Amino acid sequence: MTWSRRHVLATDDWSRDEIELVLQQSEAMLEVLGRPMRRTPALRGRTVVLFFAEASTRTRMSFELAAKALSADTSMITGSGSSIEKGETLFDTVRTLEALGADIVVMRHSAAGAPYFVAERVSSAVINAGDGWHAHPTQGLLDALTLRTALGDLDGKRVVILGDVLHSRVARSDIHTLVPLGAHLTLSGPPTLMPSAWRCGQLPAGVTFEEDADRALDGADAVIALRLQRERMDAGLLPSLREYALTWGLSEARVARMRPDAPVLHPGPMNEGVEIDAAVAHGPRSLIERQVTNGVAVRMALLHLLAGTP
Ligand code: NCD
Repeated sequence: MTWSRRHVLATDDWSRDEIELVLQQSEAMLEVLGRPMRRTPALRGRTVVLFFAEASTRTRMSFELAAKALSADTSMITGSGSSIEKGETLFDTVRTLEALGADIVVMRHSAAGAPYFVAERVSSAVINAGDGWHAHPTQGLLDALTLRTALGDLDGKRVVILGDVLHSRVARSDIHTLVPLGAHLTLSGPPTLMPSAWRCGQLPAGVTFEEDADRALDGADAVIALRLQRERMDAGLLPSLREYALTWGLSEARVARMRPDAPVLHPGPMNEGVEIDAAVAHGPRSLIERQVTNGVAVRMALLHLLAGTP
């Protein structure tokens, strides 16, 4: 398998082999991160621009650490404190990126499709670090790496995605990464927070919907809890946070319904006490910190692969 992509915009059209290749390379990067000197010269002399027009802590830091571990030069454009706040259009920003001579542009934007717009107009490679509700491919890949390390081969494994699926680019990218690896996904959450076609049974292959969280979790191999994305919600989708926590929150009792040792993931940031209890988030089954480390490795692998592409 050889790598032939110029951009990483979404994984919806990726083959199993491409996903496997990135996971293998990420495992090699984890080895680099485990060394006392966590740095390789692979991207020396290359410039990675981090263009974050929407809030982010861990994804932004993760990409920055990944670029630095590969010895790339980095520069940052963020929403606040930049000309974006002064109303600069995406097109103007694209021209600035071009002028900066970026080899790779990592971008997060509140508008779905914004990274596609940029990818068509710059000579740099573009990595989508989250666009609106649409996709978050590096999160899907790091979740796959984390699950594979915990569970081994994902073929036939059942993973529950719990919570606000409607607004979650993470859920969409998890589906596009885990299904080709052979996992079966059960989505669970309030029907008002599911895409309408999905709640009516028109689901992608390998995915089912089970409104009842307890039933969804019974015998599952792993769960990915999602943040309740209140900033993306219109009023009226939820009766109350308390009721949501009682019906869909990941409590210790719910975790106990899964297979023994089934791991718990969450992309962060967490609303503890809403979609996940603190005892679960920081409990023995939690791989949430592991996801953060794996995220750096996956982003190193992708930066490395894209930099090697003519
Ligand atoms: C996710 C995101 O921004 O989509 N977080 C992340 O990248 N770590 C999930 C979220 O914000 O809920």
